[in-house]
Amino acid sequence: MATMKAVNYIGPHKVQVQEVEKPKLEHPDDIIVKVTTAAICGSDLHMYEGRTAAEPGITFGHENMGIVEELGQGVTILKKGDRVVMPFNVADGRCRNCDEGKTAFCTGVNPGFAGGAYGYVAMGPYRGGQAQYIRVPYADFNALLLPPGTEHEADFVLLADIFPTGWHGVEISGFKSGESIAVFGAGPVGLMAAYSAQLRGASRIFVVDRVPERLAVAKKIGCIPIDFTLGDAVDQIIRLNDGMVDRSVDAVGYQAVNATGSAEKPNIVLENMIRVTRACGGMGIPGLYVPSDPGASDDTAAKGLVSLSFGKLFEKGLSLATGQCNVKAYNRYLRDMIVAGKAKPSFVVSHEVSIDDAEIAYHKFDKREDGYTKVLLHPNGSIDQISAKI
Ligand SMILES: NC(=O)c1ccc[n+]([C@@H]2O[C@H](COP(=O)([O-])OP(=O)(O)OC[C@H]3O[C@@H](n4cnc5c(N)ncnc54)[C@H](O)[C@@H]3O)[C@@H](O)[C@H]2O)c1
Ligand SMILES: [Zn+2]
Repeated sequence: MATMKAVNYIGPHKVQVQEVEKPKLEHPDDIIVKVTTAAICGSDLHMYEGRTAAEPGITFGHENMGIVEELGQGVTILKKGDRVVMPFNVADGRCRNCDEGKTAFCTGVNPGFAGGAYGYVAMGPYRGGQAQYIRVPYADFNALLLPPGTEHEADFVLLADIFPTGWHGVEISGFKSGESIAVFGAGPVGLMAAYSAQLRGASRIFVVDRVPERLAVAKKIGCIPIDFTLGDAVDQIIRLNDGMVDRSVDAVGYQAVNATGSAEKPNIVLENMIRVTRACGGMGIPGLYVPSDPGASDDTAAKGLVSLSFGKLFEKGLSLATGQCNVKAYNRYLRDMIVAGKAKPSFVVSHEVSIDDAEIAYHKFDKREDGYTKVLLHPNGSIDQISAKI
């Protein structure tokens, strides 16, 4: 049996690099990709912390890129040796939602559920790419071709999830060039939303968080940092903007914390968005909310119930949109912006490590220690070594 290294979930706060069976082609439309880079995502931490129904043994990794190694007979567009990045969504390209561009809600890849992903609880049987190899189903549809070589590796891997997701957060807020926007959360997704708003010509961008290093990055890309431990975030924004903002983005999700950081308050960001967004403005919510949370602090939150000032939302005529990002709606265009030198999202990457250091990387990223913002794993050695071997 051919084996490979993979980052497996063992239990709350524990992952381990284990030797597992190498994936095989299972269908004529599959490819096997030799993974050059796989990123760790804030979404992986929900599972890592035991805050989802993830079972031990699952291989993590939904932000994957690499080199096509094997192809099924039905694959027509890709060829061996192609450099590709996969959207975190697994989609079949043939259901109604895929047809309408909503690939995050594909009904054909995860029976009984709208949406599939690699290495993620409840998202279907697709093993993650924090491993040396990954099987990509419906490969012509799910793999985006990249220019050959090793250039822009750290930018391109962000096309799997966070760059499109940040862009999506801005898009579903209804944003138009020239408008002002408040982004809650300066994690990788929040920073990508802020950066997208910048690329799209926002007049003012406020970024709210409590982690100084993250706020510093937001400032560096031209945004106005708001530290919510220094006073109510909404009051601060309204004062600095001389009024409410046009749009807001939730890049925090259900594990949002209160002002002191001492307790979780799942509705705090949504409430702040309702307060800070002007009448008839819009709220984009890519931040994750779950239908059940085994680690919630109370029964309501455990059932995924979040209370909202819906009356206020109604009164202001706010629009609101949420859900997983349809990565394929954006990744090709964002790739072209990277190639053309118009976008360089890799400024969020803080660490690049070998797969053997995955356990430490998860631990530190989870604790937000040592400036861990975005971690890239190289499961087959450093990029230059890999290209030398090809
Ligand atoms: N919709 C999608 O397709 C999609 C894709 C990727 C990630 N996500 C989700 O997006 C969210 C952000 O991801 P990330 O990787 O940036 O996570 P992250 O945990 O690194 O960042 C979240 C940030 O929010 C900050 N925060 C906590 N409470 C806050 C509050 N009350 N106000 C403002 N900021 C607060 C934290 O300090 C942290 O820096 C997560 O929920 C993730 O699961 C969604
Ligand atoms: Zn992700």
